[in-house]
Amino acid sequence: PVLTQDDLKKLAAYKAVDYVESGMVLGLGTGSTAHHAVNRIGELLKQGKLNNIIGIPTSKRTEEQALSLGIPLSDLDTHPVLDLAIDGADEVDTYLNLVKGRGGSLLREKMVEGACRKFVVIVDESKMVKTLGGSGLAMPVEVVPFCWNFTVTRLQNLFREAGCVAKLRVAADGGGKPYLTDNANYIVDLYFKGEIGDLKVASHEIMRLAGVVEHGMFIDMATAVIIAGERGITVKNK
Ligand code: A5P
Repeated sequence: PVLTQDDLKKLAAYKAVDYVESGMVLGLGTGSTAHHAVNRIGELLKQGKLNNIIGIPTSKRTEEQALSLGIPLSDLDTHPVLDLAIDGADEVDTYLNLVKGRGGSLLREKMVEGACRKFVVIVDESKMVKTLGGSGLAMPVEVVPFCWNFTVTRLQNLFREAGCVAKLRVAADGGGKPYLTDNANYIVDLYFKGEIGDLKVASHEIMRLAGVVEHGMFIDMATAVIIAGERGITVKNK
């Protein structure tokens, strides 16, 4: 029987939960892959196979999910250092750099995952790429709503040589209103025709724009990536 993409996501998620030990402060990721991991953690807590877990959610959605499962929650103010975070990604390159945020959350993810001793990324094999942004899919940037059009233009101009097109993300309900993040900001999606080039340089240039809050490139953050494919699970360690 052929495994669906969701089966693969679940396989990777369950494998990552093997890394979870009782007593840990855990970053809880966002998205359809991380959803499986959070469900699994809830299940193991209920069965008494895990105890004393404290979850730090990376989005409002995950917070609601964790609460519904009875996972005790806290925040970065109270727990500034986490043992482990488990989260999905939209793209993973050969150096384990990531694109995240196509599902809309990236700022809280970056804050939480930047505070972890270990950050385990869970993906199905379709997410593996040679270079970030090279597949023509969106590279999200969270911006303040104030004069967003100005920021869109500035972002696009930064990467003019890479044939970048920057677009404000609109809400999925079809009303044409801007998509709003958990922190009430907007998202600008960058689409590249050419190469982004050096990721650290790109990151630095994006962050220098005053209207930018954060971007979806997670450079040098993942400590391990668990990849589920038709032929089984591969773990890549940093
Ligand atoms: C949410 O915006 C993200 O950063 C997710 O981690 C990422 O989009 C992966 O989501 P899926 O697991 O749903 O593909």
